[in-house]
Amino acid sequence: FGYRQNIFSETELPFDEEQQGLNEQITIHFSHVVAENTPKGVAAEKFAKLVEEKSNGKVIVQIYPNGMLYNDENELEALQENQVQMIAPTISKMTTALPDWQLLDLPFIIDNESQLKEILNGELSAELLKELETINIKGLTFWNNGFKQIASTTPILNVEQFKGIRIRTMASDILHLQYELLDAKPIATSFGDVYYDLQHGSIDAQENTISNIYSKQFHTMEHYITLSNHGILAYAVMINEDFWNSLDEEIKEVITDSLAEMQDWQFEKAMQFNKQNLADLKENTDVEIYKLDNDPKEQWKKQLQPIYRHYEDKIDEHYLDELFKEIQ
Ligand code: LMR
Repeated sequence: FGYRQNIFSETELPFDEEQQGLNEQITIHFSHVVAENTPKGVAAEKFAKLVEEKSNGKVIVQIYPNGMLYNDENELEALQENQVQMIAPTISKMTTALPDWQLLDLPFIIDNESQLKEILNGELSAELLKELETINIKGLTFWNNGFKQIASTTPILNVEQFKGIRIRTMASDILHLQYELLDAKPIATSFGDVYYDLQHGSIDAQENTISNIYSKQFHTMEHYITLSNHGILAYAVMINEDFWNSLDEEIKEVITDSLAEMQDWQFEKAMQFNKQNLADLKENTDVEIYKLDNDPKEQWKKQLQPIYRHYEDKIDEHYLDELFKEIQ
């Protein structure tokens, strides 16, 4: 692994195309905002390992986790400017640029793991990824991080308990509307700011997966977790289009083959992380975990009804048909 040390010590950001041309090594800088011990963190590492192996060391994937380079507000721009070559933001974070993607955030539509797997690997996903071309990005695949739950500083189980709660969401109209309908006060912030915001009392709650809550220790401030499974959290793995077009066919294949090879592994890994971290949280006596039973769940759904009507007119009908076909 001598080459590895060389590359790491010589490569500086922004990446230097001339240098790459000289030593014929290709470096893909991959930025993401979560911890390393999460479904996205380990997926990025596995991807890097597969790509290095399959390319016999010609392609190096350098990972920057924890938002150390870019955060939710600037990672998309950094990708488009080729400051980094890959990112994997949550689908919700792409909805300002691609409004149809909001359909995957419709609450309580995807009910279980097998439906989720079907959706992330199916025709609908392929079509959504293709939409990235309209903003000059090459979409590669979707990765999984399971279902979102509610973590809060006061218990939230009955729908009335949302009233007035300042809840952090990712920046997305549909998520905003969801919490307005629940009478909460949605506040869109960058993932990297959530810990600080909790510490300083500017938010009371958030929706996130158990693995994101646990890996960032949000539960040390949000002592109540409601297992609501009300929405999904998935990642669009994407690469700068010009960079992609500059690669030889052989290298492109290394990248797509690596992602295809790890697709099932990544899906399962996400489920395992969430399961294991939930078990860890259950052992923590400071944390109270509620399961959202049918009765309160029906109340949540009832209050959320207008969201379906609202989006029926806003989202491409073909996508809605495909979604309902795939979850049959
Ligand atoms: C969030 O902002 O809560 C998530 O999108 C973080 C992530 O990338 O999983």
